[in-house]
Amino acid sequence: MSEGIILETQRLYFRQHILADLDAFCAMEADPDFRRYVGGAPRPRDQAEQRFMNGLKPVTDNLSMWATIYKPESKYIGRCGIYPHFNANGQPIAGEGAFGVYLDKAYWNMGLATEAGTAFIDFGFDQLKLERIVTAIDARNDASVHVIEKLGFKLDRTEKGDPRSFYHYVLARKSRNFTSKP
Ligand SMILES: CC(C)(COP(=O)(O)OP(=O)(O)OC[C@H]1O[C@@H](n2cnc3c(N)ncnc32)[C@H](O)[C@@H]1OP(=O)(O)O)[C@@H](O)C(=O)NCCC(=O)NCCS
Repeated sequence: MSEGIILETQRLYFRQHILADLDAFCAMEADPDFRRYVGGAPRPRDQAEQRFMNGLKPVTDNLSMWATIYKPESKYIGRCGIYPHFNANGQPIAGEGAFGVYLDKAYWNMGLATEAGTAFIDFGFDQLKLERIVTAIDARNDASVHVIEKLGFKLDRTEKGDPRSFYHYVLARKSRNFTSKP
C-alpha cells in the first residue's frame, strides 16, 4: 500500500484529508440532497471550512473519518471511516467505534458505500481490535439503512424524536458476518 493510504479496496482508497480536498468537501456539504438526512440543511461555506480544518488534526489511533478517493478518476468523493464512540460523559468507549460514510451524490448507487463499509468492518475488527462497531442513522435515510443492514449491522434501538428519529445499529465482533463481502 502506498505511503499515507490507510486502507484500499478495488475502487477506493482512504487517506488523511489534505487542504486540496477543501473545495470538494464544502461542495458536498452545500448539497441539500447530501445533507437531507445528515444535518437537514446545507452547511454554509464558513461552517464547512471550520469543520474541515478541525478534521486536519493528525490522527494517532487510526479512528477517524478518512478522505475517500475514487481510484478510476483519482478524485476525492467523500469521507468514510470508524471514529471514536463517546459515552454520555463525552468519554470514548473502549473497544467501540462508530462507522460513518458520506459520499458525493454523483457517486451514489454504484456500490461504493457497501464496498467501503465492508473494508472498514474488517479494518475495525482486525486492525483496530474493536469489539463493537455502531452507527446511528436518521430513520428516513432508506439508502443508508439498506447499506448498513447489508453490511450485517443489527438494529439495537430506535430513538424517537421530532422531527428526526434515529436507528441505532450495532455490529459485534462475535456476531460478525464473514460472508458480507460484496
Ligand atoms: C447513504 C449513502 C452513503 C449510500 O451510498 P451508496 O454508495 O449510494 O450506497 P451503495 O451504492 O453501496 O448501496 C446503496 C443501496 O441502497 C439502495 N437504495 C438507494 N436509494 C434507496 C432508497 N431511497 N431506498 C431504499 N434503498 C435505496 C440501492 O439500490 C443499493 O442497494 P443494492 O446494492 O441492494 O442495490 C449515500 O447516499 C450518501 O453518502 N448519502 C449522504 C450522506 C449520508 O446520508 N450518509 C449516511 C449517514 S448515516
